[in-house]
Order: sequence, then C-alpha cells, then structure tokens
Amino acid sequence: MTTIESLKQEFVKRTPQSRKCYEQAKEHLPLGVSSNLQFYEPYPIYWDHAEGSHFWDVDGNEFTDFNCAFGALMAGHSHPKLVEAAKEQLVRGTLYCAPSYLTAMCAEELKKRYPLDLVRFTNTGTEATMHSIRLVRAYTGKNKIVKIEGCYHGMHDYMLHSIFPHLGEIGPDWAPTTVTQSKGIPLYIKDDILVVQYNDIDAMKDVFEKHTGEIAAVIIEPVMMNCAFIPPRDNYLKKVRKLTEKHNVVLIFDEVKTGFKLAYGGACEYFDIKPDLVTLAKCLGNGFSLAAFGGKREILERLEIDVLHGGTYGGNPFTINIALHSLKELMTKENLEKAFKLEEKLAKGLDDLMKKHNIQGFINSIGACGMIFLSEHDIYDYRTCTKYYDKEKFLKFWFGMVNNGIWLAPRIDEHWTVSIVHSDKDIDKFLEVFDKIAPTLV
Ligand SMILES: Cc1ncc(COP(=O)(O)O)c(C=O)c1O
Repeated sequence: MTTIESLKQEFVKRTPQSRKCYEQAKEHLPLGVSSNLQFYEPYPIYWDHAEGSHFWDVDGNEFTDFNCAFGALMAGHSHPKLVEAAKEQLVRGTLYCAPSYLTAMCAEELKKRYPLDLVRFTNTGTEATMHSIRLVRAYTGKNKIVKIEGCYHGMHDYMLHSIFPHLGEIGPDWAPTTVTQSKGIPLYIKDDILVVQYNDIDAMKDVFEKHTGEIAAVIIEPVMMNCAFIPPRDNYLKKVRKLTEKHNVVLIFDEVKTGFKLAYGGACEYFDIKPDLVTLAKCLGNGFSLAAFGGKREILERLEIDVLHGGTYGGNPFTINIALHSLKELMTKENLEKAFKLEEKLAKGLDDLMKKHNIQGFINSIGACGMIFLSEHDIYDYRTCTKYYDKEKFLKFWFGMVNNGIWLAPRIDEHWTVSIVHSDKDIDKFLEVFDKIAPTLV
C-alpha cells in the first residue's frame, strides 16, 4: 500500500544532493532557506537551473513547473524576450534614482488594463499593500482596515493577521477574532484590523454597522489564491463594492496574484468591478522584482500633498524596462488566451480522471490557475478549507506528483499556474502522472 512514509522515502531516494545542500545551508540560513514559505518537510529540493516551463534540481531531476514561483511567472523562466530586455537596460544603467520616462510608459500600459488614474511603482507586493494602507488612512482620516480571514497581503505588520490561524483561536463564524500571525508584531496593531470571512456579506455588513465612521478600507484578494483557490459566490464581490460605496469605505483589490492570471485586466475585468485602489506585483515583473499600486486620482494625489512614498530601488529602469516589454509583447490577449485554454484542458482532464478513479473532491479553475480539492465537503472560505480539506490525501497527491516530475507548491494554500510557455505536452504529462497516482487518493 502507498503510504505517506513510503512516498517520502522515494522523495529522499531521488534527492540526495538536495538533502546535502539543506544540511549545509542550515549552517548559514534559518531553515536552510531565505523565506519561511520555501521550507517544507522532509527538506526542500534545491534547484540548479530553470528554463521555460521546466527546471532541474541539483540531483539532475527534471520537473515541469506548475507552481511558477508562487504564481509570479506567467512567462515561465527566463523568457528570451525578457532576457533581451534585461540586457538592453544592463548597459544603459540599472538604477538612476532619478526619473526615466520608461516609468510613465509602464504606468500607461497598466492603465490600458486596469481602472487606474494614477500609479506608483515599488518592489514587492508587501510594499504595494503597505503603501496603499498608509494612503487610505491618510485619505479617509480613519485607521481601521477590514481584511478577510485566510487572505494574504504580504509580510508587513499591518497585514500579518488571520492568514492561517489555528481553528482553536479564530472565534465564532459571524465575528472572527483577529489573530496576529507572528511574534514581533506590536499587539496594538490588531485592534485596527477587523476580520470577516470570505463570501459572507452579512458579516461585513455587521462590522460596518458596529464600526461606523471608523473604517478606512476593505482589502481583499478577489479570488482567495492564498487559501487554495476559492472564488467568490453569489455576486459576493459586487455586494462588497456596493457596501463599501454605501459606507464611503475605500475598496482595495489586492491583485498581486489575480493580476495577469484571471484575465487581461485581472480580477477587475473578470468580475467587472472597479475598486478604488489596486495592488499588483508577481507577474508584473514576471521574474523580476516589481510591484505597483494605483487607482483613483483623488487618493493617489495625497502623495503630492501629505503622504510619503519612496524607496531606492522602487521603479528602477532595469525592472521597469523588463515589465514594459513583458506587458507589450508577452502578456497579450492572444498569449493569455492560449494559457487559459490549456488550463481549461487541465481542469477538465483532472475532473474526468477524478470521476474515472472515484476520487471525492472537485477542481476550481479560472483563467490560468486552478486547484484540486480533495474533500467530501463544499469549500468556500478559510474555515471550510481548513476543516474539510483532507490533508493526508493532499500529501499523497503532492509527493506522488513531485516524485514523478510534476512540480507543485508544497502547500494546500497554493494553486497551480499554467504560463504562456506551457505546452500541450506539459498538460498531457500532468494528466498522465495524475492518472498513475490517482488510485492512492481514493
Ligand atoms: C495577494 C498577495 N498580496 C501580497 C503579496 C506579497 O507580495 P510579495 O511576496 O511580492 O511581497 C502576496 C505574495 O504572495 C500575495 O499573494
């Protein structure tokens, strides 16, 4: 019988060099990695190099990459057009700390896809949400932010709350407790973070009524893409938009993950909603560190009056030039449509195979992304996902796929991504491997 233990043993047998790297790296880096989210049991695979939709580890194993750097690589690894753009700017200067018109051109490109009057660039999604929150507090003169349990918005102190809290500390369904997710964050911050569940508009109404006149903004991942892959139901996002308008509360769509992956114009286009602010990162740089925040003129104009935003590397010409090429030449409607079609084929193929093998569960999929839910229950928010996703089955699925050369994030809370450089052959391989390991998931 296939057990998690036997799958782990196979993983260890295939990756002796990774194990060595891990043991040595631990001498220099906590957990042997440079981000807690890169660690997993028994030890992480250490990569050697990557190209297109594939990568090779230090043991020489080849993988088809469906994680795509936690969804940051819609153009795959080291796309030749982006390498060219990088070379072009390398010899023209990589950091000016002075304006270059390239930055304005990049903002103009973003405005073709998103409802943005004005834009500012920064380096990471973390910075984009942090600056947005400062901005809305200044704009509204209020401090409280409503966030969704299970949504992730980066590593800064304001937003490191109720991302993956233990079920024992989360409070009742209708009034979740705000849980600080890391030691080192001042405890008073959580008093300004109000948490509600995704897909629960009544809870949001209650919070708005209880805290009338105190709430600056609602920040939301339009699709929960840091909690597996959970889409909105029953026009939830439209209701959120209506409610925020009624109460004069700023709506921030955190499109760090949904951007460039759900539709040409991200979740704003896909769900036909105009938030007040949008944050972008990941596929904006497509492998190079770039982020942006933007939206309504009257909010962004506070940066001309009394709100500070800056940063040495923010909007540097190197990443901006790459992003400009990426937006104009790679993240086109045609290319994205091709990736969406492949994702459709993958989702349909998996659905058929689940039926064929009598596996309980379902597939969620939109645009270029999807996720398998191994569960007998309906899942529509953080709590149902945490309670009802069969974690043992997920581990069997994950080790089974990875031991057969299909790379997926080692966590239930991450979806997969089909980039514009994935091929039919890559999708067939995913389905073939799933067909092979499916009997272990019944
Ligand atoms: C929705 C969302 N917002 C913000 C962030 C933070 O982005 P970064 O890792 O670039 O700081 C992430 C990262 O995964 C994210 O998924």
